[in-house]
Amino acid sequence: SRELHVVVLGAGGVGKSCLTAQFVHNEWIESYDPTIEDSYRTQVQVDGRQVILEILDTAGTEQFGMKSLPSSPTALPTNSRVVAMRDLYMKTGQGFLLVFSITSPSSLSELESLREEIIRIKDEENVPMVIVGNKADLEEGRVIPRAKGFAVSQKWGAPYYEASARTRTNVDEVFIDLCRQMLRK
Ligand code: GTP
Ligand code: MG
Repeated sequence: SRELHVVVLGAGGVGKSCLTAQFVHNEWIESYDPTIEDSYRTQVQVDGRQVILEILDTAGTEQFGMKSLPSSPTALPTNSRVVAMRDLYMKTGQGFLLVFSITSPSSLSELESLREEIIRIKDEENVPMVIVGNKADLEEGRVIPRAKGFAVSQKWGAPYYEASARTRTNVDEVFIDLCRQMLRK
């Protein structure tokens, strides 16, 4: 069966690890433990085909990700190490979940530079991607209207889902949509 490499990207605290934990282990994690980098291997059925997913759960960009990395034992400053790591997983990644939180205004704008970086590194426009507006259960805390997510989705030509790792809404759907795109390539 085919092995597909998925990378989960987005700002710190938007729910990348929780979405991944729900998808892979069916578990909800209430506490917040900033990620350095975790990878998961899981088998899924996509339209009757067995697929092995290799999922890379990355450190959030900006606020938490940079700080959570251990201090550099090398001559390279932390910043350059982060950039080098990012370049590497963008190269090996075949599909990208671009995650923001509907409760965080800056988390959507941060996806823009990530997407540009993916396209630059892969030197290709047509990269499998899914845009995920997470924390949809927190409707009362919403600052990003659904229409704004759709507008970005139209502009980038990538599907948009609102999801909740907490209620497990659209968790399977976002990963399966991404698998379908990757299998078409
Ligand atoms: P970094 O690893 O630092 O980049 O963060 P992350 O994007 O992996 O966020 P994480 O999954 O660790 O979630 C951060 C916090 O948000 C945790 O306290 C979660 O419980 C909470 N959280 C994640 N997803 C949801 C969601 O869908 N709804 C609600 N209400 N809370 C969520
Ligand atoms: Mg995380």
